Amino acid sequence: MIKTELLTKKFGNGRGIFELGLDVPAGAIYGFVGHNGAGKTTAIKILCGLMRPDSGRAFIGDLEVKASNTAKIKRMVGYMPDITGVYDQMSVWEFLDFYGAAFKIPPKIRKNRIEEVLALAGASEMIDYQVSSLSRGMRQKVGLAKTLIHDPAVLILDEPAGGLDPNARIEMRRAIAGLKKLGKTILLSSHILPELASICDVVGILNKGHLLAQGTVKEISEKIQENLSIMLVVDSDAQQALDLLHQVEGVESAVLADVNEIQISFTSGRELAGSLLHFLIENGVKVRWFAENEVDLENVFLNITSHTVSGTDNNR
Ligand SMILES: Nc1ncnc2c1ncn2[C@@H]1O[C@H](COP(=O)(O)OP(=O)(O)OP(=O)(O)O)[C@@H](O)[C@H]1O
Ligand SMILES: [Mg+2]
Repeated sequence: MIKTELLTKKFGNGRGIFELGLDVPAGAIYGFVGHNGAGKTTAIKILCGLMRPDSGRAFIGDLEVKASNTAKIKRMVGYMPDITGVYDQMSVWEFLDFYGAAFKIPPKIRKNRIEEVLALAGASEMIDYQVSSLSRGMRQKVGLAKTLIHDPAVLILDEPAGGLDPNARIEMRRAIAGLKKLGKTILLSSHILPELASICDVVGILNKGHLLAQGTVKEISEKIQENLSIMLVVDSDAQQALDLLHQVEGVESAVLADVNEIQISFTSGRELAGSLLHFLIENGVKVRWFAENEVDLENVFLNITSHTVSGTDNNR
């Protein structure tokens, strides 16, 4: 639904984006992850037709993002910029009505639509608030409501959770997950990594303008993480289990993480994990818990960018 081919924009000194090939399936939530200055906003602006690339192409559905398609792209895409500009002198209702009018939504339909988008953004109670009185979290919600006003099929949200406290971030995440249920295709950028893992279907990892990896969190981590990480909890002597584990070929490391919890790093692939468990039980270890550790997006990201990121991650 959102696609780019060799998308490139150079600002000089290695800044910009380089030959990006983003691919966002219809109906998916795509997490666009990258450090500050990685190029997320640049790619997003090009996708929304607000900046021209130096080379390469971008598509929303079947439409190429170019000047002659601007009006159609605007109808299809709801764009929430990283800094939501809102008009302080208006009430929330007036603000949304203004945008609804700009999209030529007839006044009769507009009233319902405003209530609908505020509900979707979790901001129904703010309808009569003055925009100037809104907190940051409230502004983000109203910004999201504005993005939805013309019922776009595609949502492009630049750091929708940026600057929000943990509660407000959870609410924003809920609202976004709700929008997916309506069938929207959603691209959202963030550098708050663990947050994305829970709501994204696909993740693209951007580093210094280059797309380092793209796929589900699981796919990406499998590609880069040859080691399987297993947690073992025993009801018998943990030292005995450790001694046994150190004899097993394929066990790279086994360390005591808690009184009877052992963390195992295993290099021989998933299929041999079962025989590892069997070996432990056969040798008298009382296994209470044996499970692959869940993939952690933050670790994946750090792993994948560690050899390319220098001391500072903010190159603005
Ligand atoms: N108009 C511009 N002119 C010159 N350089 C720019 C311009 N826009 C962005 N850059 C540079 O391109 C790089 C990518 O910036 P961009 O804003 O796309 O990053 P980002 O991933 O959105 O970062 P953040 O997480 O801080 O929002 C940065 O080094 C930035 O300084
Ligand atoms: Mg940005």
